[in-house]
Amino acid sequence: MKTAVYPGSFDPLTNGHLDIIERAAKIFDELIVLVSVNSSKSPMFSLEERCAMIEKIVQSCDNVRVDILDGLLVDYVSRIDHAVIVKGLRALSDFEAEFQMALMNRDLDNHVETMFLMTSVDYAFLSSSIVKEINRYHGDTARYVPPVVQTEILKKRGSK
Ligand code: PNS
Repeated sequence: MKTAVYPGSFDPLTNGHLDIIERAAKIFDELIVLVSVNSSKSPMFSLEERCAMIEKIVQSCDNVRVDILDGLLVDYVSRIDHAVIVKGLRALSDFEAEFQMALMNRDLDNHVETMFLMTSVDYAFLSSSIVKEINRYHGDTARYVPPVVQTEILKKRGSK
């Protein structure tokens, strides 16, 4: 049984993230989407809100589940036998930070491998940050996120 862990802030999950989830779920027996704190970002949605949205989105994918990371990624991965970390790459600009994280994770635990999947070119320009930026100025984000996420974005906008 080969398990992959797909970590990220997913604040919020975009169609680009979903593309990576669908690709990884075809390759691995089990995929864990791991909603994580990124200490350098201030979140729009709480970890629990992000987790609940992703659970709804992946509920029809039998081999995908969602979990919350509270701690170091390598510690989580080491608790799952032979799990690999999956990350998405959109462009060369992603590579430097991802390369650093992959090598640091390997340095922390030599058993941990990171695999990169290329996103569809349709989503090469898409990020959670840019979705939040569009939303901040009340632009339409519906084309960039799954409907569940769009509903929550509009709810959050309405509550402000
Ligand atoms: O979607 P993001 O914000 O680019 O994801 C970054 C994330 C959450 C994967 C990264 O910050 C992470 O792995 N955080 C968990 C804590 C950890 O292990 N940090 C060391 C990474 S080398």
